[in-house]
Amino acid sequence: MSKILYGYTALFDSPDGIMAAAQKTADDGFTKFDVHTPYPVHGMDKAMKVKPSKLGFVTLFFGLLGGALAMLFMYWTMAVDYPMVIGGKPLFPLPAFGPVTFEVIVLAATLSTVAAMIALFFYLPQNNHPLHDTDYMKNVSSDKYGLCIEAGDPLFDEKKVKTFLDAAGGKNITPIYNPDPVKYPLLQPRFLSVLLVVALSVSGLTYFTLNKLMYMPPFDWMSEQEKLTPQRTYRLFEDGYGMRMPVQGTVARGFMPYPYRDQPVLEEEGLANPLLATEEVLTLGKNKYNTFCSPCHGDHGDGDSRLRGYFPNPPSLHTPRAREWSDGQIYHVLTVGQNVMASYEPYTTREERWAIVHYIRALQRAKNASDADIQLVRSDNNAR
Ligand code: HEC
Repeated sequence: MSKILYGYTALFDSPDGIMAAAQKTADDGFTKFDVHTPYPVHGMDKAMKVKPSKLGFVTLFFGLLGGALAMLFMYWTMAVDYPMVIGGKPLFPLPAFGPVTFEVIVLAATLSTVAAMIALFFYLPQNNHPLHDTDYMKNVSSDKYGLCIEAGDPLFDEKKVKTFLDAAGGKNITPIYNPDPVKYPLLQPRFLSVLLVVALSVSGLTYFTLNKLMYMPPFDWMSEQEKLTPQRTYRLFEDGYGMRMPVQGTVARGFMPYPYRDQPVLEEEGLANPLLATEEVLTLGKNKYNTFCSPCHGDHGDGDSRLRGYFPNPPSLHTPRAREWSDGQIYHVLTVGQNVMASYEPYTTREERWAIVHYIRALQRAKNASDADIQLVRSDNNAR
């Protein structure tokens, strides 16, 4: 297989020499050529007539894409998939998402720029460049300045280029051939072993730094801090229990204890409904009654259970007995239960239970309307 020419290289001894040669190459109309120097030589871009890099567009594109994806992701999680009001803030608080979006823009822009650079310069997935492992490369990475005119240049002609480089003052003018193409270059043992060494050393170093060198509980590992774990004893207290009973005689914030739990019925007779029977309260009571009570007691308290055959039918709430009960007595049944009827304390708040009591009172009055009630409705209708 005949070798394919990659280009011609020449070495120069001084920065001025390479600068003049680069200028001359560009002036002669060559476009596919490169200069290699041991250190950045200022003004070289101008001399080579290099156009501004297109890499900036990659950075811009991926930066904007990253930012948009970050915004979309936060919007989706916060406002669509798992909407949860936190501290009364809106579901999509733009200012709060600003910093994250900015960080993601920077991250996406940098990573994509580096990846694009590697891809362009190394011709990924190829991972070796024709100039690698050449004497030319050894020279220009120590004390020489090199110029390489590539065979892909439209003006390239072997003889002309050789004489041109010679005239420009170049030494060691050598042809460079493309290396034989490698099959699956990314699976080369050499490449893989470099990757493995890098991965192992980076993770090892990170592990050592975080866990040994700078280890500082509880800041590094929250699992190491003193805290309460479910189903485990807690050594801060003598009895080993993490969950504490309230101190005797105290009432926790937002919690109203029910003092009549074990008291005879007479005790709760004195309890008065703390809520007024406003439309709002009655609506709340109706909602809660329909949700929690109507399956057994029926939509209107008649005891026409929808669970007939599965659960004992409750008595009607319109019996003289239930109508003569005080609000407190009904509240007591809801709070602690009665015989087979369970307590509804775990499922309803104190206010909701009192609202249900109001609603039961409304049902009772509607079912047993007095003449006065009917008069009231009539005059109400007439007034309209
Ligand atoms: C799973 C069915 C069921 C549900 C749900 C239920 N109850 Fe009952 N309730 C009963 C049964 C059964 C009784 C009779 C208990 C007994 O044997 O004293 C009863 C009794 C009562 C009594 C006493 C009636 C009396 O005359 O002794 C009241 C008041 C009452 N319920 C109100 C409610 C309210 C208000 C709700 C909604 C929060 C509710 N119940 C939810 C089954 C239920």
